[in-house]
Amino acid sequence: MKFNTKTIHGGQKLDPAYGAVMPPIYQTSTYAQTTPGGHKGFEYSRTHNPTRKALENALASIENGKYGLAFGSGLAAIDAVIKLLKPGDEVISTNDLYGGTYRIFTKIFERFGIKFRFVGMNNADNVERFITDNTKLIWVETPTNPMMNIIDIKAIAQISNKHNLLLAVDNTFATPYLQQPLDLGADIVMHSVTKYIGGHSDLIMGALVVKDDEIADRLYFIQNASGAVCGPQDSFLALRGIKTLHVRMQRHCENGEAIANYLKKHPRIEKVYWPGFEDHPGYEVAKEQMNGFGGMLSFVAKNSDYKEAIKIVENLKIFTLAESLGGVESLAGHPASMTHASIPKEEREKTGVVDSLIRLSVGIEDVDDLILDLEQAIE
Ligand SMILES: Cc1ncc(COP(=O)(O)O)c(C=O)c1O
Repeated sequence: MKFNTKTIHGGQKLDPAYGAVMPPIYQTSTYAQTTPGGHKGFEYSRTHNPTRKALENALASIENGKYGLAFGSGLAAIDAVIKLLKPGDEVISTNDLYGGTYRIFTKIFERFGIKFRFVGMNNADNVERFITDNTKLIWVETPTNPMMNIIDIKAIAQISNKHNLLLAVDNTFATPYLQQPLDLGADIVMHSVTKYIGGHSDLIMGALVVKDDEIADRLYFIQNASGAVCGPQDSFLALRGIKTLHVRMQRHCENGEAIANYLKKHPRIEKVYWPGFEDHPGYEVAKEQMNGFGGMLSFVAKNSDYKEAIKIVENLKIFTLAESLGGVESLAGHPASMTHASIPKEEREKTGVVDSLIRLSVGIEDVDDLILDLEQAIE
């Protein structure tokens, strides 16, 4: 099956009870047993739920994996990955990443004796220098949030294979429509399903997809033992989102490109971060490992500061000023005070997350309206 067909049919079966085309919402915590252990494959909904299972199968299919696991949020999915480790283990992570990921790494897991090294990965060779005997996992986010750096997944996978490490890739920004990390050598793909996969800003959810049986077993154990699962209603909504992922992503990419080009030519704009520009340092890798450049971009206005950036985002009328991204509607954010406020200012600024930076999640509205909105807000 090709990708667009998989978004609609991948991992799906007609419901065995009545042939429902969409899996019913099995809003139940438990399942009747005829004798202890005598059940139809489902015992308790923290462990398994048929609606969640349908979603997990769909996620595995669109990421070219074998096993999908859905969680109550993207951070719950990240939490499960780090719980594969033990005190004394070390993680090498992208240095420019979602603020909440940085927060769970440094504020939660460092307290349990796991060490994180935040490393610029634009040059994959840089990673190898940081590997020690205790390194167990490489954590990659690409494109990065919010600086839109591109990391060469294949090159990092070669390093992780050579040293027998796990490689996890946060594929939230790209989605499997644009990039399939398991095919590039990653062991674990992670998603904030909240974003493009859900696609309608109406749920909070996370996911992991893997190919390897043993990693899957260990993660299913953690999913059940820690219990941060998503409910059946949200699983249904996420499944519905997946069915239009390919058409939404196509439009996100078209609109993203139009807005990136508009901003780049604008006399009041200093810098636009979007991996589809030929002069973007990750352009060649992005062209190779992605099927498009996506609808996320960041920019800085000329002579702008914290106050100016806030003024621009407050002036927007069609773009909504809000946390999050990846929904059908366009959103604008101010990373320094919103999504990345949990990263200390000195750390943030090292990677370019300055006070004047604005991040856009370009939606699927008419792009002319979005450009007019940006025009009036910038003027
Ligand atoms: C790249 C990335 N990873 C992970 C997360 C965390 O996901 P969630 O908010 O669903 O917990 C986010 C949220 O913004 C994100 O942007």
